[in-house]
Amino acid sequence: KIGASTFATQAASFLQDACESSIDWNNLGFGLMETDYMYTIKCGGKDDDFKAGKLIRYGNIELSPCAGVLNYGQGLFEGIKAYRREGGGVFLFRPQENAIRMQKGAQRMCMPSPSTAQFVDAVKQTALANKRWIPPPGKGSLYIRPLLFGSGPVLGLAPASEYTFLVYASPVGNYFKEGTAPLNLYVEDEFHRATRGGAGGVKSITNYAPVLKAISRARDRGFSDVLYLDSVNKRNIEEVSSCNIFMLKGNVLSTPEINGSILEGITRKSIMDIATNLVYRVEERSITIEDVMDADEVFCTGTAVGVAPVGSITYKGNRVAYKTSTPLVSKKLYSRLVDIQTGVVEDDKGWVV
Ligand code: COI
Repeated sequence: KIGASTFATQAASFLQDACESSIDWNNLGFGLMETDYMYTIKCGGKDDDFKAGKLIRYGNIELSPCAGVLNYGQGLFEGIKAYRREGGGVFLFRPQENAIRMQKGAQRMCMPSPSTAQFVDAVKQTALANKRWIPPPGKGSLYIRPLLFGSGPVLGLAPASEYTFLVYASPVGNYFKEGTAPLNLYVEDEFHRATRGGAGGVKSITNYAPVLKAISRARDRGFSDVLYLDSVNKRNIEEVSSCNIFMLKGNVLSTPEINGSILEGITRKSIMDIATNLVYRVEERSITIEDVMDADEVFCTGTAVGVAPVGSITYKGNRVAYKTSTPLVSKKLYSRLVDIQTGVVEDDKGWVV
């Protein structure tokens, strides 16, 4: 015999276990799996502050048809992963960096933003409220997506009168359908991802829809994704649609310098730091298409993507294939990063929360 409340707790736990056991943790891709809760805070206009937020059940939201984000694209997003470790515990990787990036982006997009403490607290609450959706160690992560957008109505082109900060989450595995296999990139010389003076350097939602056409064209031709060139000289490489790019030549690891059209990736920054510690020379510089075609190794970095090796680059009909058998430097750098994220090695940089 058990009491009603014990019965209710056991039943809830049974249902939860049943739900978890129905998830195929071995085959997670990068698609939305609806979780239990999301976090929201609102703020009225640029002279107001974000006050106390709250967790609510995951679900649709209501917006004015005239909302700033729907009409003028006034919105930013972030991506952060929560990991479950062997031995227990849930860990986030450098969430303060995402908070700071959102604040910089908010300035560019004329929006107020949550403080770093509010941002990190919201991310922690979202991760913990959806804890049962965090994959077992080594099977993936909980991808946490903070959004900041103009939710107030605005008809003439102007900043919205109200803003919403919303955080939701979904369990994810590999970003690319190729899994961890090397990517075949197509160099796009008609469409550009971003331009000087634009918003390519911040995580504005407006940077992403314009690349869909280039991605779909490249996929139709059998490529994994697109590598974009700068829009001024069409000569320097910039980014891949959803991630930064690195090339290795000898002992020198290079990535395009931050120039307003390159996103300041947190994985990018972490890999530069790890590579420096592993005694590679790290350079942020302009990289021509010829430089990258002559590299020993090329790889992409991003929160969603992780560190993905590039197997080939095709530019104006010329295809260059890179070494993809071990030992790859990208693999060594990624292993080090994952070891820090998952607690296998000591986090002496204070990156893990
Ligand atoms: C991320 O890596 O978190 C991103 O925001 C890229 C996105 C297109 C999935």
